[in-house]
Amino acid sequence: MANDVPTIQGDMARAVIDPASYADWDNLLNTFDDIRSTSPVTKVLPDDEGIFDPFWLVTGYDEVMQISKDNATFLNNPRTVVFSLTEGIEFAKAMTGGSPHMVASLVTFDAPIHMKYRKLTQEWFMPKNLRGIEDEIRAIAQDTVQRLIDAGPETDFVPLVSAPYPLHVVMQILGVPEEDEPRMLMLTQQLFGGQDEDLNHSGMKDMTAEQITQLVAGAVKDFESYFAKLTAEKRANPTGDVASTIANAAVDGEPLNDRDMMGYYIIVAAAGHDTTSASTAGAMLALARDPEQFARVKADRSLLAGIVEEAIRWTSPVQHFMRTAAEDVEIGGQKIAKGDWLMINYVAANHDPAQFDDPRRFDAARSPNRHLAFGAGAHQCLGLHLARLEMRILFETLLDRVEAVELAGEPARSKSTFVGGLKTLPLRITTV
Ligand code: HEM
Repeated sequence: MANDVPTIQGDMARAVIDPASYADWDNLLNTFDDIRSTSPVTKVLPDDEGIFDPFWLVTGYDEVMQISKDNATFLNNPRTVVFSLTEGIEFAKAMTGGSPHMVASLVTFDAPIHMKYRKLTQEWFMPKNLRGIEDEIRAIAQDTVQRLIDAGPETDFVPLVSAPYPLHVVMQILGVPEEDEPRMLMLTQQLFGGQDEDLNHSGMKDMTAEQITQLVAGAVKDFESYFAKLTAEKRANPTGDVASTIANAAVDGEPLNDRDMMGYYIIVAAAGHDTTSASTAGAMLALARDPEQFARVKADRSLLAGIVEEAIRWTSPVQHFMRTAAEDVEIGGQKIAKGDWLMINYVAANHDPAQFDDPRRFDAARSPNRHLAFGAGAHQCLGLHLARLEMRILFETLLDRVEAVELAGEPARSKSTFVGGLKTLPLRITTV
């Protein structure tokens, strides 16, 4: 019966879709706890018709897992993330000639096309291939840690380490020249952090939804013009990197069309660093707050794998994705109708007390730690082995050179409903 459906509206609904509420982490977790304690699957209703279509918010771990693994019932089309509120979707349709997605990429494809595209680059990101570039990653980590030490003792870890390090690694794998990395960083920050005045490079505060949409569209256009040039270069002269693979790829015997090719570059370029930056900064925050833990892992590097995994759960840098029901289905006791829209919230699922004991505590010994930060099912993160490897190598390098670390100011989180994390982490470092 309709009145049995758990719903949220007003301030609580706004908290779920407002980028600013994702900057206020403890409050956000409190909101998800409140919502989940009533029901793991809850209907979110707009105050004003038309701002967004009602959607189901999924906050329970089991339910997010079930939805993620059932790719036939829960589709990635037509909506991928909630920042496409009604206005954004209309803008994307006008810009693309009918598609609700500004960018067409792996996360906007469903079966059967999705797997055909995924397979084009999958091998690059598998452990076997990554072992071959471990030395290269270690060299990048060493340069990065040296920069941190040279800038010390008081520094901001984010612009100095956690942002540039994964950026440089993924751009090397992609095949983007180092001098273009600042442009890639800026465009990714506009794409994922368009809602945050410190990250969107616009100089504007309190932007309207329309201004944010236009900023994101501008970033997409600039990415596209950059990658169009790169495609021509990698076709004329393939250099054995991921960009050369994409530029020369074919699906069902046909070369990729321009839109799909641009989307492929963009997802690797953007998803490949901002996410890992956020979990790397989160791991450092946990270590800075707990000097004993820092000393323990410095003495025993076997603890590092647990720290890396827990940091990824604890930060959950990809905060949500959306799915659309392909048929009527029941989940978490709620009847979902064909066409209904669902937000699978990884932050909420990774803080579900039914799955994680004392979920807000950073517990490097947590076992098992079957978090959902990388998603699950057919779309599970392509870069998860790379992300873990990068973090392990960075901290191995850092622990060799740094004796102790403490907070030197207040860390701050970005305002973003989609990919989010620390945008500043002031530290005081004591070197070995
Ligand atoms: C997809 C998280 C690092 C590339 C995803 C998804 C999540 C995620 C949640 C969607 C999963 C789903 O729908 O079930 C993360 C986190 C990272 C990270 C938390 C770091 C800690 C990376 C890196 C790359 C990458 C380093 C490098 C290329 C991708 C790609 C997809 C994806 C290409 C789309 C996969 C598909 O739709 O088939 N990631 N990611 N990610 N990620 Fe990551």
